[in-house]
Amino acid sequence: MFILILGAPGSGKGTQGKILAARLGLPKITTGDLLRAAIREQTPLGVEAGKYYNQGKLVPDSLVLDMIKDQLDRPGAKEGAILDGFPRTAAQAELVDRTLGQRGQRLHHILLLDVTDEELVRRMRARAHVEGRTDDSPEAIATRLQTYQRDTAPLIAHYAQRGIVHRVPGTGTVDDIAGEIKRIIGR
Ligand code: AP5
Ligand code: MG
Repeated sequence: MFILILGAPGSGKGTQGKILAARLGLPKITTGDLLRAAIREQTPLGVEAGKYYNQGKLVPDSLVLDMIKDQLDRPGAKEGAILDGFPRTAAQAELVDRTLGQRGQRLHHILLLDVTDEELVRRMRARAHVEGRTDDSPEAIATRLQTYQRDTAPLIAHYAQRGIVHRVPGTGTVDDIAGEIKRIIGR
């Protein structure tokens, strides 16, 4: 089963994705974590990606599409995966649909975490003090929120046509939200 966790920056994709992946015994693929590792290690991809990442901009599709394809093609992701942080653009959505489609698979559920902008900003600012993520600066946070609305939110309509989008209230305790997700997907 392939499940996409969709939502604005700070909405809880990583937190809920981890719980869901552990419960279902599926790998979680997180493009943000992969990019952070590449940036830390200063690989050729990391050096290029860092220029966008630090400003809160999306890393261009030309840099991330191959990475996404490689991840979906891994043996561990044959039966399913939790997708956290991608697809984020129309081109990425097309790649995911095509890659899974060629294997006779598809995305089963899209979980859309719904959190107000005010709460998103509060969470990211709080995290900035704890984790020091370079894209949790006030300027990058503002850019990430705008970028989500412009480039990623349109994917909701794309998937809603297939009737697989579930809106999940993303505020409340982590456990309550995880419980709601369990109820929605039925396991
Ligand atoms: P990415 O790493 O995907 O970050 P993001 O989308 O900005 O979201 P976050 O990871 O900040 O938040 P989250 O939704 O995972 O929430 P979390 O669980 O951490 O992307 C970062 C950057 O990488 C992008 O800007 C781009 O540059 C690049 N990138 C990544 N993927 C890309 C792609 N596919 N294409 C192009 N570029 C790409 O929770 C947030 C905080 O809130 C945490 O501190 C958490 O502890 C807390 N929290 C969680 N749940 C709750 C709750 N219920 N109540 C209170 N606090 C909570
Ligand atoms: Mg995350």
